[in-house]
Amino acid sequence: MSRQLLVLNGPNLNLLGEREPGVYGRQSLADLEDNLRAAFPEVDFSFFQANGAGALIDRLHQAHATGVGGAVLNPGGLAHTSVALRDAVAAVALPVVEVHLSNVHAREDFRRRLVVAGACEGVVAGLGPRGYPLAVQHLVEHGSTGSTGARERG
Ligand code: DQA
Repeated sequence: MSRQLLVLNGPNLNLLGEREPGVYGRQSLADLEDNLRAAFPEVDFSFFQANGAGALIDRLHQAHATGVGGAVLNPGGLAHTSVALRDAVAAVALPVVEVHLSNVHAREDFRRRLVVAGACEGVVAGLGPRGYPLAVQHLVEHGSTGSTGARERG
């Protein structure tokens, strides 16, 4: 059965590759998505990036309704501020893994506060683009199949 997974990226991540490359690297979001498709041919990915919380929340609701098996979420700066995004993750009851390219614990103090992460299954931070396939691997091994929308931990 093919697994449906959602990969959500928040504000400013559309600028990956050109945005503060010393912090976020030189790989573009399109390259990162291509690499995920190549690494997990068995996964049916949906990729979505938005610069506002509302669009990310709408996409999570939609994923839940259509039986997606889990999501990788890099909330960008919303990770540190958005109660609404956290509530959406909690509401949809999908396994969600939060990813940060940079080590948010080794940067400014305000980045240590992770508002959304408490509703997520886990967090990968500081491993650059490699964090995404690690999160996907977790969802493939421990997420639901996406066929029912129900959570099946294995
Ligand atoms: C980020 C870390 C956030 O603090 C920042 O606002 C981002 C990117 C990361 O992937 O390292 O936009 O989520």
